[in-house]
Amino acid sequence: MIYDRRPDSMERITTPELADAFIEEQLAALREQIGDKKVLLALSGGVDSSVVAAMLIKAVGQQLVCVHVNHGLLRKGEPEQVIEVFRNQMNANLIYVDATDRFLDKLAGVSDPEQKRHIIGEEFIDVFAEEARKLDGVEFLAQGTIWPDILESEAGIKAHHNAGGLPEDIASRFELVEPVKILFKDEVRLVGKQLGLPDGMVYRQPFPGPGLGVRCPGAITRDRLAAVRESDAILREEFAKNGLEGKVWQYFTVVPDFKSTGVKNGKRTFDWPCIIRAINTTDVMEVSVEHLQPELIDHIVSRILAEVPGINRVLYDFTPKPPATVEYE
Ligand code: XMP
Repeated sequence: MIYDRRPDSMERITTPELADAFIEEQLAALREQIGDKKVLLALSGGVDSSVVAAMLIKAVGQQLVCVHVNHGLLRKGEPEQVIEVFRNQMNANLIYVDATDRFLDKLAGVSDPEQKRHIIGEEFIDVFAEEARKLDGVEFLAQGTIWPDILESEAGIKAHHNAGGLPEDIASRFELVEPVKILFKDEVRLVGKQLGLPDGMVYRQPFPGPGLGVRCPGAITRDRLAAVRESDAILREEFAKNGLEGKVWQYFTVVPDFKSTGVKNGKRTFDWPCIIRAINTTDVMEVSVEHLQPELIDHIVSRILAEVPGINRVLYDFTPKPPATVEYE
């Protein structure tokens, strides 16, 4: 049975056995709902859309069409992981669209944070809609809506990201399929694990929709974006090596749009700083700063300075939320 709301009596899914039972029930319900029709899914590689993809692959196999839009603002290795896990390992019907140039061209010279987010959101819908128009016989649109999305949209906190964003000619063609709609995030993760998704995907830290775009404050340039991506990859690698992955709630780097003087190999440099942010929270309303071991900070700083072109200074952000937000834009 597909529930529209989480039943009050529903037991919290806390064990693999309960997750398996939920999956079995949902697979049967999805097969009944979808029949022999096709279903379309925007697969970002985030926890929710990945779990929905894994569930639909089990339920209807090749009737699922996944579209992964690379907006050029993803973290290092992310598009490759989506292709590896879903196309190569799970044999999903996956359309990969590298729209990097399109997004970066539209964003060139745009420094206002709201305008940047708006462009990224609009462009994403345009690219996805273009792909959807190319497909015949798709009657369903799957989404990774989860229970807190519904509660937050009912409370007026968050606009529920439903088909409302799609142009009318596209949205009206589809019936929604939301198989994890009644689950809390921890339950979605457990279901994903039982469906065979890798831990790196199921337990990954939150990552904003506008991606690295909000960590490249001001107008995005390809070189500064590359510096954010490379420094983020180093930070993630070091956190994983030092047992901090899954323990620290969110960690990333930011490369602001100003330069300062430095010196390297006896020559003056004029390069960007790289800011490290590592935070812990339970509800994201209030956030505290993770205090790393000084030796680990030294090591990460050395690696970023040695390996990331364009960086000559590394800073650590000790600001809680409030007054600072987690992201810089
Ligand atoms: P802030 O910066 O508001 O971030 O303190 C709180 C949490 O939300 C994430 N975040 C976003 N997630 N789309 C998202 O899906 C967004 O536009 C967005 N902006 C911020 C942020 O990474 C943090 O976890």
